[in-house]
Amino acid sequence: MNILVTGGAGFIGSHTLIELYKAGHTAVVADNFSNSNPESLRRVAGIIGIPEVPFSHVDIRDREGLEKIFAAHRFDACIHFAGLKAVGESVEKPWEYYENNIGGTLTLLDVMRRHGCKNIIFSSSATVYGDPAEIPITERCPKGRCTNPYGWTKSMIEQVLTDLQKADAEWNVILLRYFNPVGAHPSGRIGENPGGIPNNLMPYITQVAVGKRKELGVFGNDYPTPDGTGVRDYIHVCDLAAGHVAALQAIGRRCGVGVYNMGTGHGYSVLDMVKAFVRVNGVDVPYSIKPRRAGDIATCYCNPTKAKAELGWEARRSIDDMVRDSWNWQRHNPDGYPE
Ligand code: NAD
Ligand code: UD1
Repeated sequence: MNILVTGGAGFIGSHTLIELYKAGHTAVVADNFSNSNPESLRRVAGIIGIPEVPFSHVDIRDREGLEKIFAAHRFDACIHFAGLKAVGESVEKPWEYYENNIGGTLTLLDVMRRHGCKNIIFSSSATVYGDPAEIPITERCPKGRCTNPYGWTKSMIEQVLTDLQKADAEWNVILLRYFNPVGAHPSGRIGENPGGIPNNLMPYITQVAVGKRKELGVFGNDYPTPDGTGVRDYIHVCDLAAGHVAALQAIGRRCGVGVYNMGTGHGYSVLDMVKAFVRVNGVDVPYSIKPRRAGDIATCYCNPTKAKAELGWEARRSIDDMVRDSWNWQRHNPDGYPE
């Protein structure tokens, strides 16, 4: 298939491009590089062994820009990663998040249908479950109240896509609810490249390990979890990338709307992650216990069996693979991609 990959220069998009080409698909990337760098696409091309990954420097809110891409290519499906994703920033700049994430998606969907491309895989998030009603979380678990505008954009876009498919059965929609993507391609050539102070655990750990930050703050050790620190379902980004290829096959089978958790089904605490990182990589990660972070929940991990049963996909990589590959990327690229 030929796939439009919005946000393809970003962390998850760049890894997914590799899996797409490995599976015999081709791709065109649409990215405004607001949180990424074309260097990731050059490196992806090097890993795949092609001269370049075709891309357009375009904002998905730019209807004319998107029209040009659709005039030049025929797409079988779109994998839609493009969006802003910093939870704290979304609380400070809600309008910007709704406008970019929802406005961008609405424009994209309109251009897609005008060109007869009605197959989409959307990057949703475990955040749509809010404080989950049950653990492990299945897809039957009701969506909850999100604690921030970022989460609401994911929840609302899921609704838009579901309603669109209900009204027009030509659409095939896959909503992938990612748990906590970490790790990097084993080559160490591409990885997660957060600007400023990382919000998420793994990039913070790797930046402490490489000496860019003094110590990790562990946000709370009084949760009702085995060691008191927050428990999450970390998933290797290469496994998550492969999940998108599996989802494309479901689109080929005309799936209607499909909702899938993308996680391993295992929960690890903050201290489990720190200890694994130190053990596998032999580097020190100083940390101290800090107060809980507002909006955090104690435990979040999924039941991933629906994706296995219906998509034939499951995560294969271990926590050791995750911490090794995260560190391999960071130590070879202490400042991320060169500007
Ligand atoms: P990322 O920031 O690395 O990638 C997003 C890409 O989208 C970037 O390359 C950015 O430049 C681009 N982009 C943003 N707005 C755009 C616009 N208006 N037009 C064109 N391009 C635009 O993030 P990621 O970690 O790769 O996440 C990809 C998707 O998965 C996002 O939608 C994110 O919300 C979702 N997601 C991520 C996580 C996670 O922990 N990384 C978890 C759940 C869901
Ligand atoms: C974050 C997002 C959530 C998104 C999810 C998956 C926030 C508040 N939430 O959630 O919307 O769906 O990623 O991408 O950003 N931790 C520390 N110290 C740190 C950083 C994190 O102790 O410096 C702890 C957290 O308290 C948590 C765990 O590590 O227990 C994981 O945190 P993080 O990586 O931010 O992911 P989530 O909280 O799951």
